Amino acid sequence: MDSRPFFVMTDPGCFNVSYRINPWMNPDDWTPEQAAIACAGSAKLRKALEIAGARVEVIGAVKGLPDLVFPANAATVLDGKVLLARFRHPERQGEEAIFRSVFQRLKARGLVREIIDLSDGLFHEGAGDAIWDHDRGFFWGGFGPRSSRGALSVVRKTFGYEVVPLELATEAFYHLDTCFCPLAGGHVLYYPAAFTPQALAAIHERVPAARRIEATAEEAAALCVNAVNIGSTVIMARAPESLRQKLNARGYELVEVELDPFIRSGGAAYCMTLRLDRTSAPAASILAAE
Ligand code: ARG
Repeated sequence: MDSRPFFVMTDPGCFNVSYRINPWMNPDDWTPEQAAIACAGSAKLRKALEIAGARVEVIGAVKGLPDLVFPANAATVLDGKVLLARFRHPERQGEEAIFRSVFQRLKARGLVREIIDLSDGLFHEGAGDAIWDHDRGFFWGGFGPRSSRGALSVVRKTFGYEVVPLELATEAFYHLDTCFCPLAGGHVLYYPAAFTPQALAAIHERVPAARRIEATAEEAAALCVNAVNIGSTVIMARAPESLRQKLNARGYELVEVELDPFIRSGGAAYCMTLRLDRTSAPAASILAAE
């Protein structure tokens, strides 16, 4: 059994910004040159993940579904269980069937165990709004702009772990992964202004001040909080120097990738990936144990 962290990414061949479902997106600003930069950025992100010790599988692009490049929104995955997402915006709902068949193929290969549907009438945008905190053993659950609050109890029942609800206060930071990133070792990188007072209180209650790394407005606007963490490596879009210094001071190394075209869609490193091998046990994969 391969014990490397295992990520899915999507071929960026059909990526563009052709509709607007968040304030980052402006179809009028999209140029064909962006598409070429996107392909190079996606390849570099994949390389950075592999250099950090991960294995990456790339799923095919589908014409007319540009946001398929953000597989973090496809599902919540833990312990081999896949809770399929339901998208709030019709523009992305066509991705649901594509991702379902991707997971069915992964299941046939023994790479995930179980595929679970969300109850009717709820929205949930996957790992973008349900972030597993490996050190603390629970999910942080974003809700508001995209995911319904009611979906968080489905996440709790499906996986059997607490989900700490965090209400998102702004349209710009519409998925939890745009403003919140737990790091190995117990630090949390987050952008306080994105949260309601109750959500901030919940974060402060569970993460001691010494473990909180606050992103500035400039760092958050560079979508740097949307980062992939593997061990002490943190992979993200081009970062202001201030963020590099903050992370280095806590013992993390930064790997930066040019992801500007994806930022124009409101996404960056974390949401361009979906991690499939996460287990609630701190030890080896439960799939390996079976
Ligand atoms: N354009 C996409 C959307 O608005 C970007 C999604 C980025 N995903 C994320 N988890 N932050 O849905």
